[in-house]
Amino acid sequence: MTKLAFLGLGVMGFPMAGHLSQAGFDITVYNRTPNKTDQFLKLYQVRSALTPAAAAKGADVVFACVGDDNDLRDITVGEQGAFKGMKPGAYFIDHSTVSAKVSRELADIAATFKLGYLDAPVSGGQQGAENGQLTVMVGGKPKDFSAIKPVIEHYAREVTLMGPVGNGQLCKMVNQICVAGLLQGLAEGLSFAEAAGLDVEQVIHVISKGAAQSWQMENRYKTMLAGEYNHGFAVDLMRKDLAIAMNEASENGTDLPVTQLVDQFYSDVQGMGGNRWDTSSLLVRLQRSHQDKQ
Ligand SMILES: NC(=O)c1ccc[n+]([C@@H]2O[C@H](COP(=O)([O-])OP(=O)(O)OC[C@H]3O[C@@H](n4cnc5c(N)ncnc54)[C@H](OP(=O)(O)O)[C@@H]3O)[C@@H](O)[C@H]2O)c1
Repeated sequence: MTKLAFLGLGVMGFPMAGHLSQAGFDITVYNRTPNKTDQFLKLYQVRSALTPAAAAKGADVVFACVGDDNDLRDITVGEQGAFKGMKPGAYFIDHSTVSAKVSRELADIAATFKLGYLDAPVSGGQQGAENGQLTVMVGGKPKDFSAIKPVIEHYAREVTLMGPVGNGQLCKMVNQICVAGLLQGLAEGLSFAEAAGLDVEQVIHVISKGAAQSWQMENRYKTMLAGEYNHGFAVDLMRKDLAIAMNEASENGTDLPVTQLVDQFYSDVQGMGGNRWDTSSLLVRLQRSHQDKQ
């Protein structure tokens, strides 16, 4: 398994593909917007292709990290989709966060092309991708998982099979449900600390050693306090993920009151022009509301 293709050189895909190139794999990359491909080619000695099908041609494994269900359909079964270009026996690994439903739908189509399919959403953010420390939750057949796991480990610290295709995405939904409430809690804590006149750096130094500690607290409080949001995980993508989780919840009968509320708060952030801001930007709406009251 030395010949790979990587489709989607966004915030996540770019560093993930970079790790595979550094590991010595023979890779062809594809990105819809050519300037990201150009940037990648400046850093790594790889080939590029103009369509997903052309990139996937002859590859043993094709990786993808794109946006939502429709984007994934475009690059797999669309007119220039990868499935057409792939050889029987090859694997398609999807690292995007999408619905469990589309994962199962595409796995069934992949089977008709004699392709293996794994849904393999990731957690760990931009830093995790850049440091090769992602957590990967995988759905698929154990045999396919065993074959691909060593390749994924080039950019992950934890790669776990969660069950059949779709279960990786279901696990990712749990992740996003947990993160949504947690980020709002962190934003409320910081907003409160500022309003109370505390030394916020000192507060974080203290409480991050206790039960309130979290990845978001560790990795985001500094940029939140500095009002820096042009990095990380975009609000638009978070709302996409929360919609996926809320749809699934309406099917399995779960109540997600906090998730629904935080989703509305993200809609407010979008209204402030924050579509591409990092998800920690929930603090902005609290700060503005506090200013309005002064
Ligand atoms: N950022 C994070 O912290 C993070 C963490 C975990 C999971 N994720 C998930 O990982 C996926 C990618 O996230 P990201 O942050 O890397 O997003 P991003 O920076 O917006 O990149 C998205 C990538 O998908 C490509 N794309 C989107 N629609 C396409 C289409 N219809 N056809 C072809 N290419 C298409 C984009 O191409 P263009 O360059 O042409 O736009 C770009 O390469 C998402 O599903 C996201 O939910 C992100």
